[in-house]
Amino acid sequence: MLSRRGIILAGGNGTRLYPLTEVVSKQLMPVYDKPLIYYPLSVLMLANIREILLISNPRDHDAFRQLFGDGSQFGLSIRYEVQTAPEGIAQALVIADAFLDGRPSALVLGDNLFYGDGLGTLLETASERVNGATIFAYWVDAPERYGVVEFDHAWRPTRLVEKPKRPRSNYAVTGLYFYDQHAPRIAANLRASTRGELEITDLNMDYLTRDNLHVERFGRGYTWLDAGTPDSLLEAAVFVHSLEKRQGLKIACPEEIAYRRGFIDREQLERLASLRGPGDYGQYLQRLPSLLNV
Ligand code: TTP
Repeated sequence: MLSRRGIILAGGNGTRLYPLTEVVSKQLMPVYDKPLIYYPLSVLMLANIREILLISNPRDHDAFRQLFGDGSQFGLSIRYEVQTAPEGIAQALVIADAFLDGRPSALVLGDNLFYGDGLGTLLETASERVNGATIFAYWVDAPERYGVVEFDHAWRPTRLVEKPKRPRSNYAVTGLYFYDQHAPRIAANLRASTRGELEITDLNMDYLTRDNLHVERFGRGYTWLDAGTPDSLLEAAVFVHSLEKRQGLKIACPEEIAYRRGFIDREQLERLASLRGPGDYGQYLQRLPSLLNV
């Protein structure tokens, strides 16, 4: 199999965060000690994906480039594309067509945060699946706000419904999707919905009707948050803060993941640590090699 490439969709207008997002992208907002986009970037890195396309709106394109450059500091290759208007999540596959160049993909939304023991293994397993699509379901209290997946008695997916008024399942579809090489072509043939978007639910439905959609359920030990409103942004920050304070280990630190996975060596890590300066983040990077020895 040609190696899977990653896509971070970090466009949108972030209207629910106005005035915070009037001049700055939602995905650059702080979640405690790092920008929101570090969290989805880390998810791709945990899945061992090193070639990544970052899609943003035209306004924020330069800011993301300034933040990540070519990605080599993390042992990655990061490229950039623009989504002119937020015309749907499935449009990311159309925009990424040339970048993917016939390879399978993993798409993650720029405002999604995933955390839980064994996440890396779960992601690697999904990434190794050659055929079809894999999506992830998470039990939520208010499924009507999300795309929802319904199951039969054997936990096989039967239906996907976008923001149902009367949900028949509490399982929301999270913002992380693994696709085989056919997704860009299928996405390009989708028709825009009544809200004018190429719906990711329609793309996933295409896989489901061909019996080619795998749905992994995240158990209760996992956390999935999307930081799209002031409340959820604050809740995400509080969550990260309490875990990091308790353990002294960082969540979604790309430098750490890069080092642990061997994308960068000790010398490169030390260089990054000195660039990060004297604050808590830089000190953490300084300490990392000794932390990992115990
Ligand atoms: P949303 O939260 O649905 O949209 P938004 O970020 O524009 O925020 P709001 O609803 O407050 O205006 O998007 C979820 C994620 O997907 C977010 O990271 C932005 C991204 N996105 C795009 O980049 N392009 C799109 O066309 C859509 C629909 C979403």
